[in-house]
Amino acid sequence: MTATDWMAEESAYYMHTFNRQPIVVERGEGARVWDVDGKEYLDFTAGLAVANLGHAHPAVADAVSAQARTLLQMSNLYYTTPQLELARLLVENSCMDKAFFANSGTEANEGAVKLARKHGRLHRNGAQGIITALNSFHGRTTAMIAATGQPAYQEAWLPLASGFTNVPYDDLDAVRDATTDDTCAVMVEVLQGEGGVNVPTEGYLKGLREWCDEQGLLLIFDEVQTGMGRLGTLWGYEQSGVEPDVMTIAKGLGNGVPVGAFLCKERCNVLEPGDHGSTFGGNVLATAAAAATLRCMLDEDVPGNAARVGAYLRSRLESFAAERAPVTVGARGTGLLQALLFEEPIAREVVSAANAEGVLLNPVLPRAIRFMPPLIISEADVDECIEKLDAAFVKATAG
Ligand SMILES: Cc1ncc(COP(=O)(O)O)c(C=O)c1O
Repeated sequence: MTATDWMAEESAYYMHTFNRQPIVVERGEGARVWDVDGKEYLDFTAGLAVANLGHAHPAVADAVSAQARTLLQMSNLYYTTPQLELARLLVENSCMDKAFFANSGTEANEGAVKLARKHGRLHRNGAQGIITALNSFHGRTTAMIAATGQPAYQEAWLPLASGFTNVPYDDLDAVRDATTDDTCAVMVEVLQGEGGVNVPTEGYLKGLREWCDEQGLLLIFDEVQTGMGRLGTLWGYEQSGVEPDVMTIAKGLGNGVPVGAFLCKERCNVLEPGDHGSTFGGNVLATAAAAATLRCMLDEDVPGNAARVGAYLRSRLESFAAERAPVTVGARGTGLLQALLFEEPIAREVVSAANAEGVLLNPVLPRAIRFMPPLIISEADVDECIEKLDAAFVKATAG
């Protein structure tokens, strides 16, 4: 079947909830993917910041295949070894003390919110409210759209779940002003990914830490997108000089196998039997894949590569922006989560043209393109991306 045939199948059988690019992807390897017609693309989307080790990584493929032949699912009624191995690896390589596994980033955040509310019930006079940021993204369940401070995700789904207050990001006073007797936690991304690659000013996360300590609030970092090496360190918080009480992760954790987690410090490890659970969360297949991913990431210092190549990508984007000014107005981001900014809302057109040139990019905002490649890319891959982007930019902005 051709790409056109597959797109017709989608219209016939699939709910139309995505505005997809007209590309039917069949396979991947490293930072490249190929469509059903055999066309090759350099993938600077990495399955939405997921395939951090690159597509079809042999260590992950071997772990998945070995686990599939051993045991696929057992449930949390029993102990399983990949789950415990992954929990230990995460704890040994972060500031956290305990882990709980979920199936997605949204579910990881749901678990973190439940933990925070129980902590509030026990240790802050029953407080249940969570302060989150405008332009954040925490997921798509009915509770997480209330946490996600973006009206576009909320307006069609009123009434929103109660107990979430959205305040401007990177604004400490806004958090202080929003704190009440009913507040139990503050939940933020260390850098807002979906909101447009918004980097907070230095001191913001530290200020949040101080405020939470002073008020007895839990500080939750949603590292679903920024974790697993994306920012050039294994966890984004490492660059802030402060540690959260709770951290949520997903995306790159399984390198494409769906798995999420929330982790906490021992001092707020309040969940007990019956409080939370999941049929699939912590499943042997997902946790075996994640353990292989994390081991590989640590053994090969993949975050170090993300820092080096991320700095190179940033410098190339800044030069690009300067050369193509005033249509381009700058670049922002950390590690291999970067954005190129435009004066006008042309991101979609530029991305469509870039796809045709053979590089996959993401128009994260009408005026911004997001770059989130696999973390194993080289400087030569960056050069190729910029070359194709430039050709695309010229075509998209001609006339
Ligand atoms: C920071 C952040 N949190 C949560 C989520 C939701 O994760 P998932 O789509 O796996 O449910 C995302 C997804 O983009 C995210 O970027």
